[in-house]
Amino acid sequence: MTELTTVTLASNELHQLIQTKLEKAGLHSSHADEVAKHLTFADACGIHSHGAVRVDYYAERIAKGGVTLDPKTTFEKTGPSTGIFHGDNGVGQYVANEALKEAVQMVKESGVAVVGISKMSHSGALSYYVKQAAEQNLIGIAMCQSDPMVVPFGGSENYYGTNPIAFAAPRKEGAPIVFDMATTVQAWGKVLDARSKNKEIPDTWAVDKDGKPTTDPHKVHGLLPISGPKGYGLMMMVDILSGVLLGLPFGKRVSSMYDKISEGRNLGQLYILIDPSRFTDLEEFKEKIELTVADLHDIKPAEGFDQVYYPGEISVLNYEKSQAEGIEIEKNIYEYLKSDTVHFDQYGGKGAFAE
Ligand code: NAI
Repeated sequence: MTELTTVTLASNELHQLIQTKLEKAGLHSSHADEVAKHLTFADACGIHSHGAVRVDYYAERIAKGGVTLDPKTTFEKTGPSTGIFHGDNGVGQYVANEALKEAVQMVKESGVAVVGISKMSHSGALSYYVKQAAEQNLIGIAMCQSDPMVVPFGGSENYYGTNPIAFAAPRKEGAPIVFDMATTVQAWGKVLDARSKNKEIPDTWAVDKDGKPTTDPHKVHGLLPISGPKGYGLMMMVDILSGVLLGLPFGKRVSSMYDKISEGRNLGQLYILIDPSRFTDLEEFKEKIELTVADLHDIKPAEGFDQVYYPGEISVLNYEKSQAEGIEIEKNIYEYLKSDTVHFDQYGGKGAFAE
């Protein structure tokens, strides 16, 4: 009989394990709760690259002082539809949620809200935030900076981060549509996930220290942008909007996840929220999103595909399934979560591509 390498947990069980670990690392209970909700959501959606696999790293950064435990956050309204949320390097999920609340309030007043977040730590899967906006009948767009670990198109040294973009819109029936992607072929977390499973990665994801494609997740030294120059252009756009625009370090100056683990990361994130009812009839808008979904579902699948999914649908289906059947995580992550070990002291000072 082959030994199981994964365990299936109820959502509240996984949440509790993560929360307890982060509290042991030093995070306040309410902040730990927000991070736990977020990571549990990511695993439930099948975004394992941004789920419980991150707890060990978060715990180490928190325990070593790289996250402000009592952040003095402020919201600076800079115009009727613009503002900057100052995160004081509080834990990313807490800061991102607080900023989102400000952006939602602003969009309800002015129809559009462009809110930047200045100085935060890693905020995880962006879908979590835009989904909340869409649940309030808003269109949500989010993007954020990430460590410089991507080779520019035609280059052999890293410059931009995996700079993700997420989009969500409400539909008439069912959960909002949510599309969320890194601008690299794969998010760095997918490499981490492959490391935790000791699995090879496709040779299209990343390059080694000599700039050559690699299938060994432990040898990754630079990730590749999606679709060559196009993904490269998108990551520049994200860097300008969530870094340069907010007066934050940009490009290769963005802090590394594992370097200087006892200092704040000073990362940026940007929300663009739009109230569809300022442009069209809200119900009509939602019906048309519903029709878009139906149109896409009606398209005859190509050979080798069972059906056409709307962008992001896979994650929504994973989420629904996991609420009914439980969330699958790697056994080694589960063992760590229920152990007394707060963190394995394995990231600090090792640079972006810590072994
Ligand atoms: P991915 O490649 O797994 O999926 C990208 C999108 O495509 C998702 O919305 C997914 O649902 C959709 N999709 C996948 N297969 C599909 C299919 N057959 N039909 C229709 N849609 C399909 O995601 P990726 O690029 O690996 O990003 C993972 C996560 O990493 C995201 O949540 C992103 O926000 C997060 N991230 C966060 C960073 C941070 O610093 N906070 C940095 C980079 C990524």
